[in-house]
Amino acid sequence: MPAVRIVEVGPRDGLQNVQRTVPAATKLELIHRLEQTGLQAIELTSVVSPKAVPQLADCRTVLGDEYVQTLLQGQKKGHLRLPVLVPNLKGLDIAIEYGVREVAVFVSATEGFSRANINCSVREGIERARAVAEKGRRAGVAVRGYVSCIFADPYDGPTPPSAVLHCVNELLGMGCYEVSLGDTLGVGVTSKVRRLIEYLVQNGVPVEQLAGHFHDTYGQALANVWQAYCCGIRVFDSSVGGLGGCPFAPGAKGNVATEDLVYLFENAGVDTGVNLLKLAETGDWISRQLSKTNESRAGTALSVKHKPGSVGCTGAPTQQPTVPKLRWTPVKETEGLQIYRSGVNLKVVLNRPKNGNALTVPMISQLCDVFENADSDSSISRIVITANGKFFCTGMDLGKGSTQVGQGGSTSTAQFDRLTRLFELIDNSSKVTIACMNGPTFGGGVGLAFACDIRICVKTAAVTLSEVRLGLCPATISKYVAREWGPAFTREAMLSARPISAQELKSLGVVAGVAEDQQQLQRLLDGLLTRLRGSSPDASRMSKELVKLSWAHAGGEKQAAGIKALFERMMRPDGEGAHGVKQFQAGKKMDWDAYVEDKLKAKL
Ligand code: HMG
Ligand code: MG
Repeated sequence: MPAVRIVEVGPRDGLQNVQRTVPAATKLELIHRLEQTGLQAIELTSVVSPKAVPQLADCRTVLGDEYVQTLLQGQKKGHLRLPVLVPNLKGLDIAIEYGVREVAVFVSATEGFSRANINCSVREGIERARAVAEKGRRAGVAVRGYVSCIFADPYDGPTPPSAVLHCVNELLGMGCYEVSLGDTLGVGVTSKVRRLIEYLVQNGVPVEQLAGHFHDTYGQALANVWQAYCCGIRVFDSSVGGLGGCPFAPGAKGNVATEDLVYLFENAGVDTGVNLLKLAETGDWISRQLSKTNESRAGTALSVKHKPGSVGCTGAPTQQPTVPKLRWTPVKETEGLQIYRSGVNLKVVLNRPKNGNALTVPMISQLCDVFENADSDSSISRIVITANGKFFCTGMDLGKGSTQVGQGGSTSTAQFDRLTRLFELIDNSSKVTIACMNGPTFGGGVGLAFACDIRICVKTAAVTLSEVRLGLCPATISKYVAREWGPAFTREAMLSARPISAQELKSLGVVAGVAEDQQQLQRLLDGLLTRLRGSSPDASRMSKELVKLSWAHAGGEKQAAGIKALFERMMRPDGEGAHGVKQFQAGKKMDWDAYVEDKLKAKL
C-alpha cells in the first residue's frame, strides 16, 4: 500500500467548470490514461442536474462505457476506487444502475454556498446526504463525504471551524468512511490548515478518516497539502494538470495538481504508487485537449524535459487526439494462429508463446493461406501481424524434433520455398500490411516484420539478426531487411548479431511508433488503423507499387513505365481518385473504410 492515497478528481472536479463541451470520448480517454498511471482512486464523474452542471450531463455515457464498466467490475477486487459524486437519491439510483460501488456526497459548511451549489440549506443538504448514505450502504455502496468551504464561503465570508466540525461529525455519523475537507475557494494557508485539523482532532475526529481537498487560487494548495500531511492526513484529492474549479465558486481555481503532489511526496520519500512520467504525459495531453495552460509546474517541467526524443504516444506519428478503441471479433483459430476482424482490418496473432512464436511448418503454411485468401477479398483493406506472449517472433523453428536445419537436400529446399513464399506473399500483398511488434524479435521474425509496409512496436521490442551466432545467415529475409535498413546498417547488424533497440529503429525511420507498454501499443495500433481510414485502398496499392519501382528499378525504364501506368490508373473516371476528388470539392472528408463497406453492401 502506498503511504498516501491520492483521489484523482480530474474527470469530475477538473472538468465540471470547463465551458466548452468536452466530448465523452476525451473524458473516457482521460480516465483510461489516469488508470494507467497507477492511481488508486479516480472520481469518474458526477450524477447531478444537467442544468446545474451541463459539462457532466453525459455521465451515463461515461458510466455505461465498456471500458469503464470493466473497471467498475474489477473494482470488486478492491485495488481501485471509482467514486461518483451524487447530490441526492436520484443520483445514487442512477449510479447504482451502472454498477457504481462508491459514491461521494457533499455538503457545505456554509449557507450561501449550499444555496448556490445544491439549492438548499446546510441542514437540508445534510439530510439529503444522509438519505443517500443510508440507501447506499444498504445497497453495499461505499460512501465518501465532502465538506465544502472549510475556510470561507464566496457569499458569507469566513467559515467558523465549528461549522466544519458539525458537518464532519454528521457525515461520519451517517456512515461515510472518510470526509474530505474542501477548501473550495482555495483561500487556505498552512496556519489555517494546521489550526483546523488540530481543532477537529481535539474534538474527537479521527485523523485517519479525514482527507484534504485543496484548490489553488492563491498558489497555496501544495503547501497546504504538506501541512495537512504533517498533521497526520494521508489522503489527498487532486486533479491532473491542476484542472478544475467550481461553477458555484466564481474565481476559484483548480485543485492542487496531481503531478505536483506526486513530485512532492515521492521526493520526500513518501510512496504514492503513481508513475509520475505517465501522469505528466496525461496532464500535458488533457491540457492540449482543452486548449488550456497546464497548471502543474512539475507536469510542465517533466513534459518539456521528456518530450524531445522520448518514446511513447507523444512521439508517435500515428497518435490522434482521441483514438477510438477498435473492437476485434475472433474469426478463426488454428494451431499457432488466431485471426480477428475489425471492419476492413484483419489481425493475425502468432499464438505459440511458449516457443517464442517461432515459425513452425504449419504456422508458415497457415500464414501463407491468410495472405493469399485476403488478397482476393475486397472486404479487407489491411492486415496486422502481432503476437501473444513475451516475443513477437523468434524466427525459424529450432526445436529438437522439428527443425529443418542440418538436414540439407530436399528438406532444405522445401524450407527455402516455404519461407520465400511467405515473405513474398506479404511483400506483394495488395493490402496495407502492419507489423505490431509486442516484444523482441529474432531472425526470421525480423523478416516477418520488415516484409510488412509499416511497423509499430513496444519499447522492449529489440530486433536481432542472430543467425551468425548459430552458423546460419539471414538468407530469405535479407531482401527485405536490407531494403528497409540500407546495406551498411544491415551488414553491421548481421555481422554483430546485436540487439537493435526500438529507439534505434525509430531513429532510423523504419519503425513508425514506439509505445511504452502493451496497452499503449494497442492504442497506437488503434490510432494507426483509424488514421488509415482516410487512405483509399487503391491509392494505397498504387503507392506501394511506386515505392517498389523506386527500389527495384530506380531510374530505369521499368520505373518510368510503371509510374506512367499508375498515373493513368489514378486518373481513370471510374477510379477511386475521381470519387475522392469529388468528395473533396463538396467539402467532405473521405472515410474509405465506410466506402469499401458500402460498396460491398451494394454488391449483395
Ligand atoms: P434543484 O433544482 O433544487 O432540485 O437542484 P430538483 O430536484 O428540482 O432538480 C432539478 C432538475 O434536476 C430536475 O430536472 C431533476 O430531475 C434534475 P427537470 O425536472 O428540471 O428536468 N435532477 C437530476 N438530474 C440528474 N441527476 C441528478 C439529479 N437531481 C435532480 N442527481 C440539485 C438540486 C442538487 C439536483 C442541483 O442543484 C444540482 O445538481 N447541483 C449539483 C451542483 C454540483 O454538481 N456542484 C459541483 C460539485 S460540489 C464541488 O465541486 C465541491 C467539491 O469539489 C469539494 C470542494 O471543492 O469544496 C465536492
Ligand atoms: Mg473541489
